[in-house]
Amino acid sequence: MSNLIIVGSQWGDEGKGKIVDWLSDRADRVVRFQGGHNAGHTLVIDGVTFALSLLPSGIVRPGKLNIIGNGVVIEPWALFDEIETVRKKGVQISPDNLKISDAAPLILPLQVALDRAREKARGIDKIGTTGRGIGPAYEDKVGRRAVRTGDLLNKATLVPKLEALFNHYEILAAGMGFELPEKTSLLSKCLEVGQALAPFLVPAWLFLEQSSSENSKTLFEGAQGALLDIDHGTYPFVTSSNTHAANAALGSGYGDARRAHVLGITKAYTTRVGSGPFPTEDFNAEGNLLASRGREFGTVTGRPRRCGWFDACLVRQTVKTSGIDSLALTKLDVLDAFEKLHICTGYTLNDQTINHLPASVDEQNKVTPIYETVPGWMCSTEGIKNLNELPNRALAYIKRIEELVDVPASVISTSPRREDTILKFDPFDD
Ligand code: GDP
Ligand code: IMO
Ligand code: MG
Repeated sequence: MSNLIIVGSQWGDEGKGKIVDWLSDRADRVVRFQGGHNAGHTLVIDGVTFALSLLPSGIVRPGKLNIIGNGVVIEPWALFDEIETVRKKGVQISPDNLKISDAAPLILPLQVALDRAREKARGIDKIGTTGRGIGPAYEDKVGRRAVRTGDLLNKATLVPKLEALFNHYEILAAGMGFELPEKTSLLSKCLEVGQALAPFLVPAWLFLEQSSSENSKTLFEGAQGALLDIDHGTYPFVTSSNTHAANAALGSGYGDARRAHVLGITKAYTTRVGSGPFPTEDFNAEGNLLASRGREFGTVTGRPRRCGWFDACLVRQTVKTSGIDSLALTKLDVLDAFEKLHICTGYTLNDQTINHLPASVDEQNKVTPIYETVPGWMCSTEGIKNLNELPNRALAYIKRIEELVDVPASVISTSPRREDTILKFDPFDD
């Protein structure tokens, strides 16, 4: 058996979808284990673009099993909208190739209303969430009042569960002054969507166990990125789940996932959507050039992404905290037009040199990056599929990143298209 866990090593949108899709050719099963429809994973296959939020990125390949684990928070109506959109592009989706955990917490309109009301109340201090109810849904899970996917199948037990959830939300809605959906109509909508969901629901852990064989290859698809992790990210400007590789086993119930190669998807520069510290953010012409060449607009909300230089200090930190074994370095082609490239190797804080990002946001905002400058290659790498076709300066940039973050790159990506990918070594075989 071999397992590959794919996680983002920065603040999300590193190109996980493209790399999961490409590597899923070698896998039997693709498993989502955390996050929800805050994720936006883009695949470009034969000129057709797919933007996936809840569906595992293996869904577009015939014959692969796709599993949504218990660690994912599921907005069931958004899931069916997504299934419809993807089906319209010619992809078959049925309970034969999609299994959904019967123990995944649901996102209902209550959580969405609270997420948005909170962000409004925070004003300029807002987190900049995707407004999709992710935070409140995870709070309800930990608060032991979540309604879960399997609960939709039993009206007798669903009624008191929904009642208890409303009791909690009514206090918040009254205090903060936001509207809640009407209870009876939400109950019937839940029962109706439960019928649609029923054929897909399984105990995901058991399904994973029973569909395993000696040669199984399972790919775990993380959402968001290591710096958005609830424990190890730039708290509180983070998402509400553990985005680290260690969560793959918990969020799927597949204990064997802890024996895996961990592939950290890493953009050749840095971006972030929403608020929060970003030491290497570039507000000038070069930042704008990264944004325009990289088409840096959010897949989910359409918001412009903030852009800046590669932060090797931060990626080295996430390599350590997430146990990353190798990198997939993406969007190398975006750097084709830069005469000089800057790489952050550490920070100064209060006249001291430090080699990590401190835990407090206050200090994170005060660090000054220390840059090393290397020459750009000033020629096109777009679409290159062989390592030996890359210009020497691009190879030197990759090598310097590998040295600084302390792991090799196994994959390099040179365009949004599936096939424009260089394999240095197969992370499944490691
Ligand atoms: P994810 O959330 O990590 O799956 O990443 P997103 O799909 O949100 O954002 C990555 C964006 O970069 C998408 O528009 C991809 O199509 C695009 N992309 C991925 N890899 C490359 C690459 O190597 N070069 C370029 N130019 N674009 C890429
Ligand atoms: P993928 O999987 C980039 C960010 C939001 C916000 C913070 C909290 O496509 O890489 P949330 O709605 O999760 O409570 O928002 O996290 N965020 C992402 N940023 N890529 C994502 O997913 C993200 N999912 C959440 O912008 O700053
Ligand atoms: Mg994304």
